[in-house]
Amino acid sequence: MPSENFDPVEVAALQPEHLDAAVDAALAAFAAVTSLDELKTATLAHDGDRSPLALANREIGALPPAARKAAGQRVGPARGRVRQAAAARQRELEAERDARVLVEEAVDVTLPTTRRPVGARHPVTTTMERISDGFLAMGWEIAEGPEAESSWFNFDALNTPPEHPSRALTDTFYVGSDTSGVVLRTQTSPVQIRSMLERTPPIYIVCPGKTFRTDELDATHTPVFHQLEGLAVDEGLTMAHLRGTLDHMVADMFGPGTITRLRPHYFPFTEPSAEMDLQCFVCHGESVGNPDRPCRTCKSEGWIEWGGCGMVDPRVLTACGIDPDRYSGFAFGMGIERTLMFRNGVEDMRDIVEGDVRFSAAFGVEA
Ligand code: PHE
Repeated sequence: MPSENFDPVEVAALQPEHLDAAVDAALAAFAAVTSLDELKTATLAHDGDRSPLALANREIGALPPAARKAAGQRVGPARGRVRQAAAARQRELEAERDARVLVEEAVDVTLPTTRRPVGARHPVTTTMERISDGFLAMGWEIAEGPEAESSWFNFDALNTPPEHPSRALTDTFYVGSDTSGVVLRTQTSPVQIRSMLERTPPIYIVCPGKTFRTDELDATHTPVFHQLEGLAVDEGLTMAHLRGTLDHMVADMFGPGTITRLRPHYFPFTEPSAEMDLQCFVCHGESVGNPDRPCRTCKSEGWIEWGGCGMVDPRVLTACGIDPDRYSGFAFGMGIERTLMFRNGVEDMRDIVEGDVRFSAAFGVEA
């Protein structure tokens, strides 16, 4: 039984000085800790079950009922101050930790890495290879010639008269002076001559490669471009073989059933000569005269101009030591950049020339 005369102030643990000292000790301990772990230990010591304030709280139960209220009003706020201080310190330490983690675990995205971005092959290259592959599959061979070419191969042997406008400085890059006899080839056709001089019929070759003309770079021209040349020389070759070969190539590139059209034209080294049109591989001619179904690819013309072709002029065969009474030949040549423009919808030549990998990569990684 608690004594009626019991003086609560005499219970040491509940004396205000004792409570203040316990609070001061707790605040000092919390201020001194430098980590969340240390704070946990300090909180246990000053607010745990065995802390001075918890023990003081327990003494209240032993007081006479009349004295309990006053004691409770001293101990309760003391414990409240300690808990608030612990919580405040906890927030501080957590903020410090978060700031430190941000710094310590920061990744320097500007550091060089060992990973290399994957490039992409240029669509000019992959397009030339695609067309060439179709010919290789038929047993044709790849032939090559120099880009700095003798003007004899580029013009004379191709039956181009001395006064022909294509020889002028306004069209042709001369290496050194315009009388050096060396030009940057304006077409892949000199490879026809080289092949006929080096090989004996039957000859079936394609030559993909760079060609040069003195055009300014703009949306539709480039001074350095690419052509793919084809030449066949054999007994009994006719224009029907030329047409069949072109139709096969076109079907291979643009889908089965796409055909070609030949329009009479003139080239010095072929006779007869023709310009080769490709039937529009998007609308197959159905946009012609049909305003309800316009076609952007062929501008509703049904046909797309693709290149030149013809039967090798007998005079060219003779100049290359091939008997035109026994052999005949056909040849064709088309522009690769042009092919890319209408086949893949490239609208500006400069995109093809500039070499931005994002442009090439958009074509996918064609093998
Ligand atoms: N070389 C011609 C040109 O560049 C194209 C062509 C090739 C024409 C082969 C006929 C035969 O325009």
